[in-house]
Amino acid sequence: MKRKEFLQSILGASAFMAMPNISFAETPEALPELIKSTEKQTFGSLIGHKATPIKKVRVGIIGLGNRGKVLLKMFKWLVENDHAEIVAFSDLLDQNIKVAEEILAQWQKKKAAIYSKNEEDWKNLAQRDDIDLLLICTPWRLHTPMSVFGMNHGKHVACEVPIAYTLEDNWNIVQTAERTKMHCIMIENCCYNQEEMFVLNMAENGVFGDLTHAEGAYLHDLRAHMLSKDYYQDQWRIKHHITRDGNFYTTHGLGPISFYMNIGRGDTYMHLTSMSSRELNLSETAKRENAPYHNFKCGDMNTTLIKTAKGKSIMLQFDVHTGRPYSRINKLVGTKAVHDGYPSRLYVDDGKLLYWGHNWVDDATYKEYEEKYTHPIIKKLRNISKSYKEGHGGMDFVMIYRLIRCLNLGLPLDINVYDSAIWSAVTPISELSVASNSLSIPFPDFTNGAWKEARQLEVMQNTAI
Ligand SMILES: NC(=O)c1ccc[n+]([C@@H]2O[C@H](COP(=O)([O-])OP(=O)(O)OC[C@H]3O[C@@H](n4cnc5c(N)ncnc54)[C@H](O)[C@@H]3O)[C@@H](O)[C@H]2O)c1
Repeated sequence: MKRKEFLQSILGASAFMAMPNISFAETPEALPELIKSTEKQTFGSLIGHKATPIKKVRVGIIGLGNRGKVLLKMFKWLVENDHAEIVAFSDLLDQNIKVAEEILAQWQKKKAAIYSKNEEDWKNLAQRDDIDLLLICTPWRLHTPMSVFGMNHGKHVACEVPIAYTLEDNWNIVQTAERTKMHCIMIENCCYNQEEMFVLNMAENGVFGDLTHAEGAYLHDLRAHMLSKDYYQDQWRIKHHITRDGNFYTTHGLGPISFYMNIGRGDTYMHLTSMSSRELNLSETAKRENAPYHNFKCGDMNTTLIKTAKGKSIMLQFDVHTGRPYSRINKLVGTKAVHDGYPSRLYVDDGKLLYWGHNWVDDATYKEYEEKYTHPIIKKLRNISKSYKEGHGGMDFVMIYRLIRCLNLGLPLDINVYDSAIWSAVTPISELSVASNSLSIPFPDFTNGAWKEARQLEVMQNTAI
């Protein structure tokens, strides 16, 4: 039964309704069937979905901690130019509300309505009929319930990463969006970083030839953040590391890679295998610092390998326990070129067969490529606002700008509900694989087969807006 509880925590209880007679002694062999049983009825595809244009997008923000406050600042230019208005805030902590009010007062005359009475007060915000978009920046466990409630009350939803961390919740997000016809997207900012957009534009213009492989990661020493009593509200983040093991933060690496590989637009993930190292760094640091939590299930380094339907491979890593410089790796390999991030380097194959002497392009050539292939959205935003450099070096502004302008104009959003579920579902599937001696686990198809149709990425369309 213990194994059943574990599987339920990852798949969701409904998986077992479809397969009530599963033998728990044999679950590794039965896992592919069990995953299949999580697949749900769909309600009509939202691919290319356009909602009615919204002249001025009225926004309610739930969660104004570290992330919510940064994203709030990204609205300055949009509010000043009448594309958006901040209508309401919800948070549990008075000091966060106070800082958010101070930020808003710098560039919006009208104050935001406040919902901070209790843990359920955000529902009153989500039920207001003068809000078009909910921006959700709360701890992970609240992402799905808040997104689903918002859509059920007629709101478009933009939710922080990951949008869900059980398969059942990912299906719930997809089904609710399809049923309500509301946009529901995960706001994966790294897709909008200058380097990732440059690599994407090169890939789209054939510089890499045919793609074969990519590597991405979230390698970020979060020990100080997670062990601090004050950084995350109620230390929500470290609690995941006590009870779970796998890749909890897939999307900073995988979002851009999925764009490079046209995932959901002609290709998709078929199966993955995942392995975690032993855990040492976080527990040793916790003991040294006399922190209240000492025992962690999550290994220091998780490595996940994903195979796509068209035969491409992806290596994805997750390590927030080890002291080291930050990296998302951002490697892309094709038949004609290779890119590596941290620092950004490019190799372009000139077709000559060499025994040795393969070099990255020199600085001057790299600059030429950069000038030629900087993404048109970045080129445009450079000219309209200094804000294009704000929020994680610019990517947060570019992301919020694209979200609001696409809503203003009734255009499909760059990241859709299927992207959000596919990228997030790597988390529970990695956990299943880690718990089953790195067994290869198949992916459910959130698109109901629609991924087979090759389509142009939305972020390559309407780039002049
Ligand atoms: N994309 C990025 O670059 C990036 C960076 C940082 C964090 N994040 C994501 O943002 C989210 C928030 O992270 P954070 O670092 O801001 O955490 P945080 O703890 O600083 O903020 C969470 C906030 O949610 C509020 N909250 C909790 N329960 C609530 C409820 N019931 N009603 C209203 N408010 C509630 C808390 O009071 C807190 O202020 C996470 O999903 C995280 O993964 C993304």
